[in-house]
Amino acid sequence: MKEKITERYSKETESFSLGCANLSPFLAIREGDHLLELGCGSGKQAARLAALVGPKGIIVGLDLTSAMIERARIENVDERLTFVEGDIHRLPFDEDSFDLVSSNCVINHSRDKKLVFAEILRVLRPGGHFLIGDVMAVERLPEEVSSDPTAIADCYGGAIPKEEYLEIIRALGFLRIEQLDSRIYPKAGFLLESVTLRGFKG
Ligand SMILES: C[S@@+](CC[C@H](N)C(=O)[O-])C[C@H]1O[C@@H](n2cnc3c(N)ncnc32)[C@H](O)[C@@H]1O
Repeated sequence: MKEKITERYSKETESFSLGCANLSPFLAIREGDHLLELGCGSGKQAARLAALVGPKGIIVGLDLTSAMIERARIENVDERLTFVEGDIHRLPFDEDSFDLVSSNCVINHSRDKKLVFAEILRVLRPGGHFLIGDVMAVERLPEEVSSDPTAIADCYGGAIPKEEYLEIIRALGFLRIEQLDSRIYPKAGFLLESVTLRGFKG
């Protein structure tokens, strides 16, 4: 799985945005905040966030694809920005480290979304929140699609129904979970939904 994902994204380091949602209208950031962007790609969104956190803020972008991280480090030089090669299933950060964890079109690639959200919960500070845009399936995808590494790398095979996705987040104990935006679109013969969600660590 990792190979298919990194193979695909190693060829897309030039893309301006690979996201499925527009998170900008929903960003609630205070000066001095510590932010983590999961699946930051070549770091353009992380670089934009630098303007919002002021001189004392910290922004960390994490991505699985080494070519993305290399590009992010070259293109976005700012002392508040750090780019880390890593996996959203094992975040290399201490608990209670971040005020906001954001992510745009990344968690759909995971076959263990519960583990990813447990990691988000662990690294968020109490009172901190996530802001996530992700791809969900309007109806459950057939097994041959949901287990196909190429479909998963192509941002649809790993999509699960929204209710199941929300139940994972609720069961972990996130509070004030809110759907902020939604857009339904066809892909590869299936109906998908790009959903923007926010939720808080109590
Ligand atoms: C659709 S792109 C989105 C990139 C960026 N968020 C944007 O909006 O332009 C998905 C990104 O997630 C990364 N990714 C996929 N699976 C990952 C994982 N398990 N851990 C960390 N990053 C991952 C990919 O390398 C890729 O850069």
